[in-house]
Amino acid sequence: MKRGVLSNDHSDKLFEQIYDYVLERIRRGEWKEHEKLPSVRTLALEFNVHRLTVFKAYQLLKQNQKVYVRDKSGYYVQPGHGLSLDSRNDPIVSAYVQESHLSEIHQVQATYQFSKALLDPNLLPNLYFSEYVKKVFDLYPKVLGTYSTIQGDQELRDALCDYFINHYHFYLNPDELLVTSGSQEAIDIVARVLIKPRDVVFLERPTYSPAIDVFRRQGATIVPIEIEEDGYDLDQVEKLLQTHKPRLFYLNPTFQNPTGYTIPVEQRKRLVELAAQYQCLLVEDDPYRDIYFGKKPPLPLFSYDTSGTVIYIRSFSKYIAPGLSIAIVACRPSVMNLLVRAKSLADSGTPHLNQKIFLHYFFSARMQQHLEKLRIALSIRKEMMEEEFSVTDWKWSSPAGGFNLWMMLPESVPMDDFLSKSIENSITFVPGSICDPLRESKSWIRVCYSYLNEQKLREGVQRLISVYSSVHQ
Ligand SMILES: Cc1ncc(COP(=O)(O)O)c(C=O)c1O
Repeated sequence: MKRGVLSNDHSDKLFEQIYDYVLERIRRGEWKEHEKLPSVRTLALEFNVHRLTVFKAYQLLKQNQKVYVRDKSGYYVQPGHGLSLDSRNDPIVSAYVQESHLSEIHQVQATYQFSKALLDPNLLPNLYFSEYVKKVFDLYPKVLGTYSTIQGDQELRDALCDYFINHYHFYLNPDELLVTSGSQEAIDIVARVLIKPRDVVFLERPTYSPAIDVFRRQGATIVPIEIEEDGYDLDQVEKLLQTHKPRLFYLNPTFQNPTGYTIPVEQRKRLVELAAQYQCLLVEDDPYRDIYFGKKPPLPLFSYDTSGTVIYIRSFSKYIAPGLSIAIVACRPSVMNLLVRAKSLADSGTPHLNQKIFLHYFFSARMQQHLEKLRIALSIRKEMMEEEFSVTDWKWSSPAGGFNLWMMLPESVPMDDFLSKSIENSITFVPGSICDPLRESKSWIRVCYSYLNEQKLREGVQRLISVYSSVHQ
């Protein structure tokens, strides 16, 4: 993909951000009914964009009856758009959110689900789970009668702290760990605590799609960082750090979703140094680390961090027990205090029962055997999928881990048509534009090989290829 930054060249994307920004202020009641909005000129100066970009956003707001114009005076807030409980009228569900999103695709019922980056539940040792559940009730008979602490069960944090120290040489103590209900919650909390409107956030391009939504909801200005098979262009990243002074860089450097790429060791070290130098926090999301098909991946960026620059998010929900939804955040106390406070506003801690079951299951010998088998099963499915796709003219790099193939189709493919015909044929996949902070990548798709069993996987790919042939002669 070509390298780029969000600039006036991408004024269509900026105009969406301004649209969202204005609507959010109205929704929150910061700009009240019939109140005059900032002039086009003021907002253009504030956002450092061309006046036409702001004008375009205001015109769409007017068209959607969120604002109105008084001759020669300016734009005013249309009544009736304050905080609403009806999500259809919720201005936060705005230009950006109304476009197709990952969660919408996941809601489509289909026999051949290639859109979900989830594990086939049959690959989990489901029967054994009940043993651990029983064990937890024997060991902690009052577990249902107590909350965990907000920061997470002490026994679990102690055990995970030792695990991180032994496996990845983290310099850590248990107070620097926070248990969350999945990494999605962790990303959301990090964004809510650290990002205010117009802060600059670096996101990989492509990236995990809901992260784009979370940071855009915060009103961040997003600058994409291209990720390629051999990693980032760090000279380019350094220039962008100098020009944009980002608050944080959210990245998924190991078996990245959607590409499956892994950032090499040397780049990890240099990136951590650069981030420290330019005071940019690195939010390292690492849910696929244990799903490797050959060599183990390099150590997390957190292992190289000596200055508190990295916030490490590790989900276990993807492959240990999605139903438990356990993830953990490691970071230094100054950030941890903020995260704990933010989590306390959302819940009273991740469910205690889930944490205890996870603790006993994750650290069991059976878990380690299970992981070994899981890696083999997934690598077989990946190879099977690649074999089926080998008859097409699509291009991809075979991932060394993770759940997905990131595939480039010919540019001439009518992607909307291809997706809707696929859905008609009970097949789903993720269109690449959803994973692209610039909403381009129109000829890319993400297909997941981890969710369907081997027979369904072959059938589904064959069906997908025949749909493709019908829309692309
Ligand atoms: C990169 C990445 N981060 C976070 C998540 C969300 O994980 P969880 O289920 O722990 O919330 C996913 C799930 O697909 C993911 O791929």
